Amino acid sequence: MKKISGNPYFNKKEGEVLVDKVLLNEILKTNSTPLIIFLENRVRNNINTFLRVFRSVFDNFQCFYSFKANFLPEICNIVQSEGLGAELIGLPELKLALKLHFPPDKIIVGGPYLPQELIEKCVQEKIKEIVVYNINDLIKINSVAKRSNIIQEICLRINAQKYGSKLGILLNRLNVIQLKKIINECKNLKVTTLLSHYSTQMNNFELFVKNVNILLDSTKVLFDAGIKIDNINLGGGFPEAVIMPENQLRELATKINSLINNFEIKFKNIYFDPGRYLVGDAGLLIAKIIKVTEDRWIFLNIGNHICPKFAKSSIRFYNATKIEQPHKFKTSIAGIIPTDQDVLAKDYFFTNDLKEEDLVVLTNVGAYNLTFSNRFPYLLPNIILVKDQTVTNIFNPSVNRDFSIN
Ligand SMILES: Cc1ncc(COP(=O)(O)O)c(C=O)c1O
Repeated sequence: MKKISGNPYFNKKEGEVLVDKVLLNEILKTNSTPLIIFLENRVRNNINTFLRVFRSVFDNFQCFYSFKANFLPEICNIVQSEGLGAELIGLPELKLALKLHFPPDKIIVGGPYLPQELIEKCVQEKIKEIVVYNINDLIKINSVAKRSNIIQEICLRINAQKYGSKLGILLNRLNVIQLKKIINECKNLKVTTLLSHYSTQMNNFELFVKNVNILLDSTKVLFDAGIKIDNINLGGGFPEAVIMPENQLRELATKINSLINNFEIKFKNIYFDPGRYLVGDAGLLIAKIIKVTEDRWIFLNIGNHICPKFAKSSIRFYNATKIEQPHKFKTSIAGIIPTDQDVLAKDYFFTNDLKEEDLVVLTNVGAYNLTFSNRFPYLLPNIILVKDQTVTNIFNPSVNRDFSIN
């Protein structure tokens, strides 16, 4: 047995492709392409690796799964069963998390848009922290908390000061005065945490270091202004687990920990909210070749409407029909959106022999692909969950119509 794409739950064996413990050909007897497959054991395995590494490096670490990476109830349910918290941006996600029994004290909610209904639900359900991206939202949250006679804990998302970044509160010595004034007036709020999420798919340790330094500098700016922060949240940004193996993750965690330990101010808790790392390589997309051109372009029966560029996934392509053949012949891959822009890969190393009906597997599509997918008027793919030998259908477009949450 040999791993495909570095994924221990996706293997080749005697010319056949194995999805966990089921043959892909067996799955395709009852499912047609395009088909999305999620690997439950890989999600659990990634969660366990992440927790093992960060718990061994930090004494005071907590992990919140970022639902936006993949909000399918079945995936979030797996995450819940492993004891993680949830990082959410809106009301549909909050309703889902509560329905799945994420404890409110393990839920943090916030984003660039906090509608009144969302704030009220957060206060009413006593969720752990509301994450504030805009200073004026503090006033809105305070008035809801005051009406309910509670003190709401707040996490401030600060601007990561990456070139062109507009998200979060820009903290400097000038506007900290305005922030302090608002915090002093908002008697029903307690600012406990600072969050900075630098970017997604960060393959370079230096980006994580920048993120930590921005948080530490901002903590100091607030401290000097008389605002004491208990916790820091470093966000997510880790690549797929197949891209960052456990030893690298540990090295990164150790580096982050030493930066924090050497800082003059001590924190009660260190939070992370990974999305992609936990679910990215647990998603496979099975497609087929529908056209081959003389200059080695292949067209698949999927496109950027299902695996959009916005998802920034490290997609790998395999010819599953010819899995034992060398994948070292430059091939370009197009999708079925009727525009020349629907290119999935150019000059990608693929099999020499290309035939219509060949099965193509795309790996690492578990995070953000469904999130950013759009409504191009093709039928949505079936979605199944595989665990050991068990295959469960979790989405059938002819029955369920849509996988969005409300
Ligand atoms: C605040 C915050 N935390 C976590 C994440 C998850 O990021 P990733 O999936 O790259 O780990 C995001 C993504 O945008 C975010 O904005």
